[in-house]
Amino acid sequence: MSEHVTVPKAELHCHIEGAAAPSLVARLADHYQIDVSAIIDGNGKYVWSDFTSFLETYDLASNVFKTPADYSLLSETYFRMLAAEGAIYGEVFISPDHAQSAGLSYASYVEGLAAGIERAKIDTGIEGRMIAIGVRHFGAAAVERVAREVIANPHPMVTGFGLAGDERDGHPANFARAFRMAGEAGLGLTAHAGEFGGPDSITAALDFLQVKRLGHGVRAIEEKDLIRRLVDEKIVLETCPGSNIALGVYSVLRFHPVNILRQEGVRITLNSDDPPFFGTTLGREYSSVSKTFGLSEADQIAITRTALEAAFCDEAARNRLMVRLDSAVTPAV
Ligand code: ADE
Ligand code: ZN
Repeated sequence: MSEHVTVPKAELHCHIEGAAAPSLVARLADHYQIDVSAIIDGNGKYVWSDFTSFLETYDLASNVFKTPADYSLLSETYFRMLAAEGAIYGEVFISPDHAQSAGLSYASYVEGLAAGIERAKIDTGIEGRMIAIGVRHFGAAAVERVAREVIANPHPMVTGFGLAGDERDGHPANFARAFRMAGEAGLGLTAHAGEFGGPDSITAALDFLQVKRLGHGVRAIEEKDLIRRLVDEKIVLETCPGSNIALGVYSVLRFHPVNILRQEGVRITLNSDDPPFFGTTLGREYSSVSKTFGLSEADQIAITRTALEAAFCDEAARNRLMVRLDSAVTPAV
């Protein structure tokens, strides 16, 4: 294979509101006459200093997306950018609570986002799906409300249900009913755990939420038995190393456990989480992790294969994506 071939990539963990460039947020803020000077500085960068202030800035930035057209612009822009970096598949977390506080119904929010993803697909071929998330620090009732809304308004591109927000808040048992409902409705399940919480938080997410994927999950490195469990149960980690460095979970990339987990046999994927907040992109995650830990192109392709295997999409789409992955990596004769 030529060195110039772009490794086909796939992303499972990116918050769509967290993918909004500050320039887009500033433009919409101007249009709606919303003051965003507290969250975007004079250099056009988001202002935050720790996880709590990041979540606050994120909430305020989300508030400038008001209409389905605003959301379709956001998703089209993001999926085009992913495709330009060589991605063939992307899943984004969508947050009905954020749409609601911006004054949009769940159905219009999803339709707007879906239209943007479809437009990007027509031009670039990238396939996309959405995972509706409940926000942990909004409490169990709010998370159950999201589950009910998603189940009552099925959309072919909303294929998963998840839990994000502040992991330091609320035991996973509180969200067991929401996850049971979502699972019974056929949605794929994932939860953030092992980012700001340690191994106990991961164990509880696995025990109470029946998830086969974990957002982050990297702090499993702190407990050998848990690493074994992840391997045995074939749990897929949606790791976001750049996000973890930006938020101070690890000091520098070479101290990040992603490669040790991979070598131990844990199924890992690479993801950007909230790219402009953390100065990253999916392409940068693949290249910085590969450079730091010496991953070959074959290693990177194996990571994309893991993501496609774990993707919350139908089997026909998965098969098409696998064909694209295989054909992109078949050496020219
Ligand atoms: N929401 C947006 N980004 C998040 C993160 N990194 N962790 C938890 N919730 C989030
Ligand atoms: Zn996340």
